[in-house]
Amino acid sequence: MAHTKKLLRSLAGETQTVPPVWMMRQAGRYLPEYRATRAKAGDFLSLCYNPELAAEVTLQPIRRYAFDAAILFADILLVPQALGADLWFVTGEGPRLSTITNAEGFAKLKRADDIHDHLAPVYETVKILARELPKDIALIGFAGAPWTVATYMIAGQGTPDQAPAHKLRIENPAVFDALMDRITQATIAYLLMQIEAGAEVVKIFDSWAGSLKGEAFTKYALQPTKAIITALKAKYPHIPVIAFPREAGDGYIGFAKATGADCVALDNSVSADWAAANVQIDGCVQGNLAPRHMVTGGQDLIDETKRIVKAFSGGPHIFNLGHGITPDANPDNVQVMLDAIRG
Ligand code: CP3
Repeated sequence: MAHTKKLLRSLAGETQTVPPVWMMRQAGRYLPEYRATRAKAGDFLSLCYNPELAAEVTLQPIRRYAFDAAILFADILLVPQALGADLWFVTGEGPRLSTITNAEGFAKLKRADDIHDHLAPVYETVKILARELPKDIALIGFAGAPWTVATYMIAGQGTPDQAPAHKLRIENPAVFDALMDRITQATIAYLLMQIEAGAEVVKIFDSWAGSLKGEAFTKYALQPTKAIITALKAKYPHIPVIAFPREAGDGYIGFAKATGADCVALDNSVSADWAAANVQIDGCVQGNLAPRHMVTGGQDLIDETKRIVKAFSGGPHIFNLGHGITPDANPDNVQVMLDAIRG
């Protein structure tokens, strides 16, 4: 069946004169209505686990900008929490988790199929969205990739170089591999439930893939993503998957073919011309405007947006930023970007 939703048409391989567009972190702190709803929920995690309010913040950027896709409001760190890790957010700093550094810590984790009671509110959010989204807007579910999730579970917070995770994978590969496998299995179970609840596309965020090089990239970024996609496709072959091995560089080449992803999301460290020649030749790509343009605006934003649209105009493309929009972004600049894309 031919798709009518713009996002699904690009994911099915169609080249469109005006690409579909959405933004990473489109529901977020740069929007006053998001901040108001978060205050109503109490804090960020309470918002994630409140289906009515999580659906509301998912819909806010759709109402304001008519993006072509809505992304479920949740966080990649809800999976570690469902596996039994403590999780909290320090305002102005970011996430904190209890750490896993040895076999004793690993042994305390729950089994991969024991996560669903904890995550039930997320599935409820997806159900509300599947019901309430405008008919032409696609619904994206998501999860973190095992390596990125593992870096937070091992270090207990974000780290500039992911050193604690690299140390564990080298010094205690048995525990590290067991942890990667547990996260992989939980992520498959989690994404299958999102699809059953109504997600039409899923995205796998490997935000720290860039610190894996050579064989380690293949083993800990490419292989786990492939395992997840293979399991999802076995049950739902028609649900497209977007993979985001952020800052993979040359690792973007062939990533879609090797993993079975329908689309590769590009960060803004690679040029659009390079990516069109080396990555888009295999199919749909997403990206890759630098998020800082949403802060700085002006003619630079318009020129750069048009340059990216043109660079990817020869094949299937979903316009997006190269990473999440930041809290200091000016909401007016988002409209400037949309006008430059849609004309
Ligand atoms: O994109 C969306 O609008 C959907 C919701 C979404 C959030 N986080 C909400 C969020 C998605 C898809 C994510 C993914 C996520 N979460 C990633 C992968 C993508 C990336 O940005 O690289 C990662 C690494 C996380 C973990 C995480 N969550 C961090 C490191 C932080 C703190 C840093 C920050 O940006 O605040 C969060 C918090 C978070 N997740 C916020 C939002 C809207 C801000 C929390 C707040 O409102 O105070």
